Amino acid sequence: MTTVFRSSFILLVSAILCLTSSLAFGDTEAAPGDESTDHFKVLITYHSLTGNTAKMAQGIAEGARSIDNAVVVVKPVATVTADDLFSSDALIVGSPVYWSNMAGEVKTFFDNWQFKFGVYPEFKMRNKVGAAFSTGGGVSNGKELTMLTILAAMLGNQMIVVSGGGAFGASATTEGERPGIDEREYAEAQALGQRVAEVTTLVKAGQLRQARKANP
Ligand SMILES: Cc1cc2nc3c(=O)[nH]c(=O)nc-3n(C[C@H](O)[C@H](O)[C@H](O)COP(=O)(O)O)c2cc1C
Repeated sequence: MTTVFRSSFILLVSAILCLTSSLAFGDTEAAPGDESTDHFKVLITYHSLTGNTAKMAQGIAEGARSIDNAVVVVKPVATVTADDLFSSDALIVGSPVYWSNMAGEVKTFFDNWQFKFGVYPEFKMRNKVGAAFSTGGGVSNGKELTMLTILAAMLGNQMIVVSGGGAFGASATTEGERPGIDEREYAEAQALGQRVAEVTTLVKAGQLRQARKANP
């Protein structure tokens, strides 16, 4: 009986210690997007049928992961959930160029913000960091316009839009003399991921400071 009592007591004390240490020092596994942790989540999402845009997404993920406290999630647009969106601190969206613009799948993803995820009218993506990337078969056949239309959707949602890699984001020319993604284009993707994670670190630090001021 005494042994049972002692074991129960030890279990109770361990549970209390676990709880208080996680409250006092912050849980390092706490959900990103949560204003009580330094960790931040970068969601990288894209459409890709023949693998080029998916490869750029991998480069972007590598760049983002090079920054401390970044939790990086990479998914096709068709599989993104409302929770994926709202728990993220930064969102990087990529599309192949289809007829000089973003692919229909990526446009549907943005349209779903309203119809499926209920982003508007509360502007639930407000103050999250946003960026774009694209791949296109031709040198000047719509990559920049594709990135700009992605950025326009983000701006309309009051996100904090940044570039990196190239002037409007990272892009690659995938057909012609050098098919696929070459080293320079992959490095551009890595640079975009790194820049977005760096800016998100600053935004998150400001948000944490504000939250602590409001609830000292
Ligand atoms: C329906 C369709 C339309 C396309 N239109 C363009 C275009 O207007 N400009 C361009 O540069 N490439 C265009 N492409 C080529 C793709 O953008 C290019 O191959 C891209 O890298 C494919 O990306 P993925 O491998 O991630 O699917 C088109 C491809 C398809 C299938």
